[in-house]
Amino acid sequence: MTSAKDIEDFLATADDAAVAAGSIIREAWQQVKQIQFKSPVDLVTNIDRQSEKCIVNILQKRFPNHSILAEEGTAISGPQDNYRWIVDPLDGTTNFAHSYPHFCISIALEREGEIILGLVYDPLREETFKAAQGQVSFLNGNPIQPSKVAVLDQGLLATGFPYDRREKADFYLTFLKAFMISSQDIRRNGSAALDLCYVACGRLDGFWELGLQSWDIAAASLIVKEAGGFMSDFSGNTFSIWGQETMGSNGLIHNEMCRVIQETK
Ligand code: IPD
Ligand code: CA
Ligand code: CA
Repeated sequence: MTSAKDIEDFLATADDAAVAAGSIIREAWQQVKQIQFKSPVDLVTNIDRQSEKCIVNILQKRFPNHSILAEEGTAISGPQDNYRWIVDPLDGTTNFAHSYPHFCISIALEREGEIILGLVYDPLREETFKAAQGQVSFLNGNPIQPSKVAVLDQGLLATGFPYDRREKADFYLTFLKAFMISSQDIRRNGSAALDLCYVACGRLDGFWELGLQSWDIAAASLIVKEAGGFMSDFSGNTFSIWGQETMGSNGLIHNEMCRVIQETK
Protein backbone atom coordinates (compact mmCIF):
# COMPACT_ATOMS: atom_id res chain seq x y z
CA MET A 1 0.00 0.00 0.00
CA THR A 2 1.11 3.53 -0.73
CA SER A 3 -0.14 5.92 1.96
CA ALA A 4 -0.90 9.62 1.57
CA LYS A 5 2.24 10.26 3.64
CA ASP A 6 4.33 8.15 1.20
CA ILE A 7 2.98 10.20 -1.73
CA GLU A 8 3.82 13.40 0.13
CA ASP A 9 7.40 12.14 0.71
CA PHE A 10 7.78 11.03 -2.91
CA LEU A 11 6.57 14.41 -4.21
CA ALA A 12 8.77 16.34 -1.80
CA THR A 13 11.77 14.30 -2.95
CA ALA A 14 10.94 14.80 -6.63
CA ASP A 15 10.64 18.52 -5.89
CA ASP A 16 14.04 18.63 -4.12
CA ALA A 17 15.68 16.72 -6.97
CA ALA A 18 14.13 18.97 -9.64
CA VAL A 19 15.11 22.16 -7.82
CA ALA A 20 18.71 20.96 -7.29
CA ALA A 21 19.10 19.88 -10.93
CA GLY A 22 17.27 23.02 -12.05
CA SER A 23 19.91 25.25 -10.49
CA ILE A 24 22.64 23.38 -12.43
CA ILE A 25 20.67 23.91 -15.65
CA ARG A 26 19.89 27.58 -14.87
CA GLU A 27 23.53 28.41 -14.20
CA ALA A 28 24.65 26.78 -17.44
CA TRP A 29 22.00 27.71 -19.94
CA GLN A 30 23.77 30.75 -21.41
CA GLN A 31 27.29 29.29 -21.17
CA VAL A 32 29.19 27.27 -23.75
CA LYS A 33 28.14 23.61 -23.53
CA GLN A 34 29.92 20.39 -24.40
CA ILE A 35 27.67 18.86 -27.04
CA GLN A 36 27.68 15.28 -28.28
CA PHE A 37 25.55 13.89 -31.07
CA LYS A 38 23.50 10.71 -30.54
CA SER A 39 22.42 11.30 -34.18
CA PRO A 40 22.80 14.41 -36.40
CA VAL A 41 19.63 15.91 -34.84
CA ASP A 42 19.69 14.25 -31.39
CA LEU A 43 21.99 16.08 -28.99
CA VAL A 44 23.14 15.53 -25.46
CA THR A 45 25.14 18.00 -23.38
CA ASN A 46 27.35 17.66 -20.32
CA ILE A 47 24.55 19.40 -18.41
CA ASP A 48 21.96 16.71 -19.32
CA ARG A 49 24.36 14.25 -17.70
CA GLN A 50 25.09 16.42 -14.65
CA SER A 51 21.37 16.97 -14.12
CA GLU A 52 20.72 13.23 -14.31
CA LYS A 53 23.50 12.48 -11.81
CA CYS A 54 22.14 15.04 -9.38
CA ILE A 55 18.56 13.71 -9.59
CA VAL A 56 19.59 10.06 -9.36
CA ASN A 57 21.79 10.75 -6.30
CA ILE A 58 18.92 12.41 -4.46
CA LEU A 59 16.38 9.69 -5.38
CA GLN A 60 18.78 6.89 -4.44
CA LYS A 61 19.72 8.47 -1.14
CA ARG A 62 16.07 8.85 -0.05
CA PHE A 63 14.70 5.66 -1.62
CA PRO A 64 17.59 3.19 -1.98
CA ASN A 65 15.20 0.30 -2.71
CA HIS A 66 13.51 1.92 -5.71
CA SER A 67 14.37 1.37 -9.39
CA ILE A 68 15.31 4.28 -11.65
CA LEU A 69 15.13 4.69 -15.42
CA ALA A 70 16.57 7.91 -16.82
CA GLU A 71 17.26 9.06 -20.37
CA GLU A 72 21.03 9.44 -20.22
CA GLY A 73 21.78 5.86 -19.23
CA THR A 74 20.62 5.24 -15.67
CA ALA A 75 18.85 1.87 -15.37
CA ILE A 76 18.93 0.84 -11.72
CA SER A 77 16.95 -2.17 -10.60
CA GLY A 78 16.28 -1.73 -6.89
CA PRO A 79 15.30 -4.56 -4.56
CA GLN A 80 11.80 -3.06 -4.12
CA ASP A 81 11.29 -2.96 -7.86
CA ASN A 82 7.53 -2.31 -7.80
CA TYR A 83 8.52 1.39 -7.58
CA ARG A 84 10.38 2.90 -10.51
CA TRP A 85 11.31 6.54 -11.07
CA ILE A 86 11.22 7.62 -14.74
CA VAL A 87 13.34 10.70 -15.34
CA ASP A 88 14.13 13.07 -18.17
CA PRO A 89 16.94 15.19 -16.69
CA LEU A 90 16.54 17.86 -19.38
CA ASP A 91 13.59 17.87 -21.77
CA GLY A 92 14.25 20.35 -24.54
CA THR A 93 17.96 19.69 -25.02
CA THR A 94 18.07 21.24 -28.49
CA ASN A 95 16.61 24.46 -27.05
CA PHE A 96 19.07 24.32 -24.16
CA ALA A 97 22.06 23.70 -26.46
CA HIS A 98 21.11 26.85 -28.42
CA SER A 99 20.42 28.90 -25.26
CA TYR A 100 16.76 29.11 -26.31
CA PRO A 101 14.88 29.55 -23.01
CA HIS A 102 12.39 26.69 -23.00
CA PHE A 103 13.24 23.39 -21.29
CA CYS A 104 12.44 21.47 -18.14
CA ILE A 105 13.10 18.50 -15.88
CA SER A 106 10.57 15.66 -15.75
CA ILE A 107 10.31 13.18 -12.87
CA ALA A 108 7.61 10.51 -12.55
CA LEU A 109 7.09 7.56 -10.22
CA GLU A 110 5.62 4.33 -11.50
CA ARG A 111 4.17 1.63 -9.22
CA GLU A 112 3.48 -1.76 -10.76
CA GLY A 113 3.21 -0.28 -14.23
CA GLU A 114 1.03 2.71 -13.29
CA ILE A 115 2.25 6.28 -13.01
CA ILE A 116 1.33 7.47 -9.52
CA LEU A 117 2.98 10.88 -9.51
CA GLY A 118 4.54 13.35 -11.87
CA LEU A 119 6.50 16.57 -11.52
CA VAL A 120 7.73 18.87 -14.30
CA TYR A 121 9.95 21.83 -13.39
CA ASP A 122 10.78 24.77 -15.65
CA PRO A 123 13.90 26.22 -14.03
CA LEU A 124 13.84 29.57 -15.86
CA ARG A 125 10.22 30.48 -15.17
CA GLU A 126 10.40 28.66 -11.83
CA GLU A 127 7.18 26.84 -12.62
CA THR A 128 6.48 23.47 -11.01
CA PHE A 129 3.67 21.37 -12.41
CA LYS A 130 2.75 18.36 -10.33
CA ALA A 131 0.12 15.69 -9.85
CA ALA A 132 -0.52 12.58 -7.81
CA GLN A 133 -2.88 9.88 -9.05
CA GLY A 134 -6.52 10.50 -8.07
CA GLN A 135 -5.90 14.10 -6.97
CA VAL A 136 -5.88 17.41 -8.84
CA SER A 137 -2.89 18.90 -10.69
CA PHE A 138 -1.03 21.98 -9.50
CA LEU A 139 1.09 24.77 -10.90
CA ASN A 140 3.21 26.32 -8.14
CA GLY A 141 0.72 25.07 -5.56
CA ASN A 142 -2.43 26.32 -7.31
CA PRO A 143 -4.90 23.84 -8.86
CA ILE A 144 -4.96 23.92 -12.67
CA GLN A 145 -7.52 23.00 -15.31
CA PRO A 146 -7.40 22.67 -19.08
CA SER A 147 -9.05 25.21 -21.36
CA LYS A 148 -12.74 25.30 -22.23
CA VAL A 149 -12.13 25.62 -25.98
CA ALA A 150 -14.77 23.31 -27.44
CA VAL A 151 -13.97 23.29 -31.15
CA LEU A 152 -10.71 22.46 -32.87
CA ASP A 153 -11.18 25.43 -35.18
CA GLN A 154 -10.45 27.66 -32.15
CA GLY A 155 -7.79 25.44 -30.61
CA LEU A 156 -4.11 26.30 -30.20
CA LEU A 157 -2.10 23.09 -30.66
CA ALA A 158 1.51 22.05 -30.21
CA THR A 159 3.56 19.24 -31.64
CA GLY A 160 7.12 18.04 -32.03
CA PHE A 161 9.08 16.27 -34.72
CA PRO A 162 10.77 12.99 -33.79
CA TYR A 163 14.48 12.30 -34.23
CA ASP A 164 13.95 10.43 -37.54
CA ARG A 165 12.40 13.61 -39.00
CA ARG A 166 15.00 13.99 -41.77
CA GLU A 167 14.19 10.53 -43.10
CA LYS A 168 10.41 10.75 -42.61
CA ALA A 169 9.74 14.45 -43.14
CA ASP A 170 6.84 13.96 -45.58
CA PHE A 171 5.06 11.57 -43.22
CA TYR A 172 5.22 14.00 -40.26
CA LEU A 173 4.18 16.89 -42.51
CA THR A 174 0.88 15.19 -43.39
CA PHE A 175 -0.25 15.58 -39.75
CA LEU A 176 1.08 19.12 -39.58
CA LYS A 177 -0.82 20.09 -42.73
CA ALA A 178 -4.06 18.49 -41.52
CA PHE A 179 -3.94 20.39 -38.20
CA MET A 180 -2.77 23.59 -39.89
CA ILE A 181 -6.00 23.59 -41.83
CA SER A 182 -8.28 22.51 -38.99
CA SER A 183 -6.95 24.35 -35.88
CA GLN A 184 -6.41 27.99 -34.97
CA ASP A 185 -2.60 27.65 -34.97
CA ILE A 186 0.28 25.34 -34.09
CA ARG A 187 3.40 25.77 -31.94
CA ARG A 188 6.61 23.71 -32.02
CA ASN A 189 8.08 24.59 -28.64
CA GLY A 190 10.75 21.88 -28.28
CA SER A 191 9.77 20.28 -24.97
CA ALA A 192 7.05 17.65 -25.06
CA ALA A 193 6.78 17.61 -21.25
CA LEU A 194 6.13 21.37 -21.09
CA ASP A 195 3.73 21.19 -24.06
CA LEU A 196 1.59 18.68 -22.16
CA CYS A 197 1.76 20.70 -18.94
CA TYR A 198 0.60 23.72 -20.96
CA VAL A 199 -2.39 21.64 -22.11
CA ALA A 200 -3.05 20.78 -18.45
CA CYS A 201 -3.20 24.44 -17.43
CA GLY A 202 -5.05 25.81 -20.48
CA ARG A 203 -2.20 27.60 -22.29
CA LEU A 204 -2.58 25.09 -25.12
CA ASP A 205 -5.68 23.13 -26.12
CA GLY A 206 -4.11 20.04 -27.66
CA PHE A 207 -0.84 18.26 -28.43
CA TRP A 208 0.21 15.37 -30.68
CA GLU A 209 3.57 13.71 -31.36
CA LEU A 210 4.89 10.39 -32.59
CA GLY A 211 7.83 8.41 -31.22
CA LEU A 212 8.16 10.00 -27.79
CA GLN A 213 9.94 8.08 -25.04
CA SER A 214 8.55 7.17 -21.62
CA TRP A 215 10.68 9.81 -19.85
CA ASP A 216 9.33 12.60 -22.10
CA ILE A 217 5.70 11.94 -21.15
CA ALA A 218 5.44 9.90 -17.92
CA ALA A 219 5.05 12.88 -15.57
CA ALA A 220 3.22 15.27 -17.91
CA SER A 221 0.61 12.73 -19.07
CA LEU A 222 -0.49 12.25 -15.45
CA ILE A 223 -0.54 16.03 -14.96
CA VAL A 224 -2.89 16.35 -17.98
CA LYS A 225 -5.20 13.57 -16.75
CA GLU A 226 -5.44 14.74 -13.14
CA ALA A 227 -6.05 18.33 -14.29
CA GLY A 228 -9.13 17.05 -16.16
CA GLY A 229 -7.69 16.71 -19.67
CA PHE A 230 -7.52 13.59 -21.80
CA MET A 231 -4.66 11.41 -23.06
CA SER A 232 -4.87 8.71 -25.75
CA ASP A 233 -3.17 7.30 -28.80
CA PHE A 234 -4.09 8.72 -32.23
CA SER A 235 -7.22 6.53 -32.43
CA GLY A 236 -8.57 7.57 -29.03
CA ASN A 237 -7.46 4.30 -27.39
CA THR A 238 -5.93 3.98 -23.91
CA PHE A 239 -2.73 5.97 -23.60
CA SER A 240 0.55 4.24 -22.81
CA ILE A 241 3.88 5.96 -22.12
CA TRP A 242 5.49 2.98 -23.92
CA GLY A 243 3.45 3.48 -27.11
CA GLN A 244 4.37 5.33 -30.31
CA GLU A 245 1.47 7.82 -30.39
CA THR A 246 0.83 10.63 -27.91
CA MET A 247 -2.26 12.79 -28.04
CA GLY A 248 -3.26 15.07 -25.16
CA SER A 249 -6.01 17.64 -25.04
CA ASN A 250 -8.48 19.53 -22.89
CA GLY A 251 -10.87 16.63 -23.58
CA LEU A 252 -13.35 18.79 -25.49
CA ILE A 253 -11.50 18.76 -28.82
CA HIS A 254 -10.09 15.25 -28.46
CA ASN A 255 -12.49 13.43 -30.78
CA GLU A 256 -12.01 16.08 -33.44
CA MET A 257 -8.22 15.72 -33.17
CA CYS A 258 -8.47 11.94 -33.55
CA ARG A 259 -10.77 12.36 -36.55
CA VAL A 260 -8.32 14.72 -38.26
CA ILE A 261 -5.54 12.15 -37.83
CA GLN A 262 -7.70 9.25 -39.03
CA GLU A 263 -8.57 11.25 -42.14
CA THR A 264 -4.86 11.66 -43.04
CA LYS A 265 -4.48 7.86 -43.23
C1 IPD B 1 12.67 15.95 -26.97
C2 IPD B 1 11.70 17.07 -26.74
C3 IPD B 1 11.10 17.51 -28.07
C4 IPD B 1 10.43 16.38 -28.79
C5 IPD B 1 11.39 15.22 -28.96
C6 IPD B 1 11.94 14.80 -27.59
P1 IPD B 1 14.85 15.80 -25.38
O1 IPD B 1 13.27 15.50 -25.77
O2 IPD B 1 10.66 16.69 -25.88
O3 IPD B 1 10.11 18.51 -27.89
O4 IPD B 1 9.97 16.83 -30.04
O5 IPD B 1 10.69 14.16 -29.58
O6 IPD B 1 12.81 13.71 -27.75
O7 IPD B 1 15.69 15.01 -26.34
O8 IPD B 1 15.05 17.25 -25.50
O9 IPD B 1 14.92 15.30 -23.98
CA1 CA C 1 12.83 14.46 -23.60
CA1 CA D 1 16.24 14.72 -22.33
